[in-house]
Amino acid sequence: MNEEQRLHSQQAKQSSSKEKDYSKYFQAVYMPPSLKEAKKRGKEEISYHKDFAIPEEFAGMGQGKKFYIRTYGCQMNEHDTEVMAGIFMGLGYEPTEVPEEADAILLNTCAIRENAENKVFGELGHLKHLKLEKPGLLLGVCGCMSQEESVVNKILKSYPFVDMIFGTHNIHRLPNILHEAYMQKEMVIEVWSKEGDVIENLPRVRKGSIKGWVNIMYGCDKFCTYCIVPYTRGKERSRRPEEIIHEVRQLAAHGYKEITLLGQNVNAYGKDFDDLEYGLGDLMDDLRSIDIARVRFMTSHPRDFDDHLIEVLAKKGNLVEHIHLPVQSGSSDILKIMARKYTREQFLELVGKIKRAIPDVVLTTDIIVGFPNETEEQFEETMSLYREVGFDTAYTYIYSPREGTPAARMKDNVPMEVKKERLQRLNALVNEFSKRAMDRYEGEIVEVLVEGESKKNAEVLAGYTRTSKLVNFKGPEEAIGQLVLVKVTNTKTWSLDGEMVGYALSLR
Ligand code: SAH
Ligand code: SF4
Ligand code: F3S
Repeated sequence: MNEEQRLHSQQAKQSSSKEKDYSKYFQAVYMPPSLKEAKKRGKEEISYHKDFAIPEEFAGMGQGKKFYIRTYGCQMNEHDTEVMAGIFMGLGYEPTEVPEEADAILLNTCAIRENAENKVFGELGHLKHLKLEKPGLLLGVCGCMSQEESVVNKILKSYPFVDMIFGTHNIHRLPNILHEAYMQKEMVIEVWSKEGDVIENLPRVRKGSIKGWVNIMYGCDKFCTYCIVPYTRGKERSRRPEEIIHEVRQLAAHGYKEITLLGQNVNAYGKDFDDLEYGLGDLMDDLRSIDIARVRFMTSHPRDFDDHLIEVLAKKGNLVEHIHLPVQSGSSDILKIMARKYTREQFLELVGKIKRAIPDVVLTTDIIVGFPNETEEQFEETMSLYREVGFDTAYTYIYSPREGTPAARMKDNVPMEVKKERLQRLNALVNEFSKRAMDRYEGEIVEVLVEGESKKNAEVLAGYTRTSKLVNFKGPEEAIGQLVLVKVTNTKTWSLDGEMVGYALSLR
C-alpha cells in the first residue's frame, strides 16, 4: 500500500453536500433528494405495506393515453419498470414502443458510472423537441439518478422542460405524481431520501413469459467506497420468505421456466429479520421444491456467502451451477480501500470451497480497473487472481468517481490512458478465458432454455444454458419457451452454435 492509499484507507467517510435551495420557486410538490440523508442508517423500523392499490380517484386517468418507459442500468431497474408499467396499465394507459406516440415518457435511470448518466442527459436533449411538438406530453425522470442532488439541480437548470422527477422509493406514488404533474406547470419533484419500505401487491407487467425476476431484498448497506447504490437504494431490507415463495409458485404456475432472485447483495438476505433465522441458503432450499426449471440469484457479495448456501447449491436440481461473484480487484490493499471487507486470500478460499462442493460450477465476476492510485503491481494482482480462479467471463469497468462517495474525494495519480490500457489488457484476458470456457462444450449436449429467434439471425433460435452460455441453433418455433437439448458443433468467444437433438425433461 503506498502513502496516498494509506491515507485513504483511514479517511473518514463524511459526505459533503452543497445543494442549492430551489424550493422558493415551487408552491406544490418539491421534495428534492439529499445524499446525506440517504446515507443514514438508523434503527428506523422498515414499514411493510401489503395492501397497495391504485387510488380510486385516479382510476381512468390514462384512458386513451399511451406510456413509454426507457430503462437504463441493472435488473433492479428493469424490474421496477415492470412495476411502473403495471401501475400505468392500472390507470388505463396503454403501452407503446414508440416514444413519438406516447403521452407519458419515463426515463428509468442508472447512476453507477458517469457514462450511464451521460446517456440519460443525451436522451433528455433528444426528447426536448418532442415536448415542443406535443405540449401535453408528460416527461419524467426516475430511478437512481433522481436520488442525486446534483442531477436534480442539473435538470432544473438545463432541462426545465422535464415535468416530473421521482425517486426509487416513490415508484408506488406514480399515480399521485402523474396527477400532480397534470395539475401544475412547475416541475414535480418527489424524491424520498430514506431507508426505504417493502411494498407488496404492486402490480407488474412482466417483459416476457419464460424468465422472470423476483426481488428478494432491496437496498444495500455495504457502502463500498466507490459505489453510489447504497445512497440511491436505501437500507438492506428483505421481503418475507412466504411472499417470495408465493410469487415464485405463481410464476411456475403461469409457465415460467426460470427465475432470477434479485438484490444488490442477496447474500445479506434475511439478516434484517428480528423474528426469524432464515437466510439465502434457506430460501434456495425452499425454492428447490418448486416445480420451476431454473433458479438463479444476483448479485452475491463474497463477504456474506456462507457455508449453508454452498451446501444447498450443491444439491443442484433447479439451482443452477452458475454463480456471479463480483471480486472488483485482486489486490488486498485495493480491496481494503474499496471497503469490500475481504482480502484476496479470503476470496480465493471462498472460491476453493465453492469449487470443492460444486465441481462443475461456473464463476463469473465484475472488476473495476484504475481505482484511485492503483499501481501496476496491484493491477497485475487482479490479472493473476483472474487466472487463478479461472472465471468464465467478467464485466469490466474503468473506475468512475461518483459524487458524494468517499472514493470520489481521493486524489488519484493514475492517468486515464493508463487506466484504458489496463482495461484493454484485462479484456484480452477475459476474452481468452471466455473462449477457453466455450471450448469445453465442443461436442457436448447441453440443456438450453429457448428464448426466441436469435437477435442477429431470425433463421436460428437462441437460448441459454444453465451456466448462462448463449447457444444459437436451428430448431422449430414450438421450441420457444421450452427446454431443449442441443449438441454443440462450434464454439465462439461469446456463444455456442449447435444442433437441436431433442426436448429435455427438466433435469431435476
Ligand atoms: N451489488 C453488486 C454490484 C452492483 S453495481 C456487488 O456488490 O457486487 C455493478 C458493478 O458496477 C459492480 O460490481 C462494480 O464492478 C461496478 N461499479 C460500481 N460502482 C462503480 C464505479 N464507481 N465505477 C466503476 N464501476 C463501478
Ligand atoms: Fe455497491 Fe458494494 Fe453495495 Fe455492491 S455491495 S451495491 S458494489 S456498495
Ligand atoms: Fe444503476 Fe441503480 Fe442498478 S445505479 S446499477 S440502476 S441499482
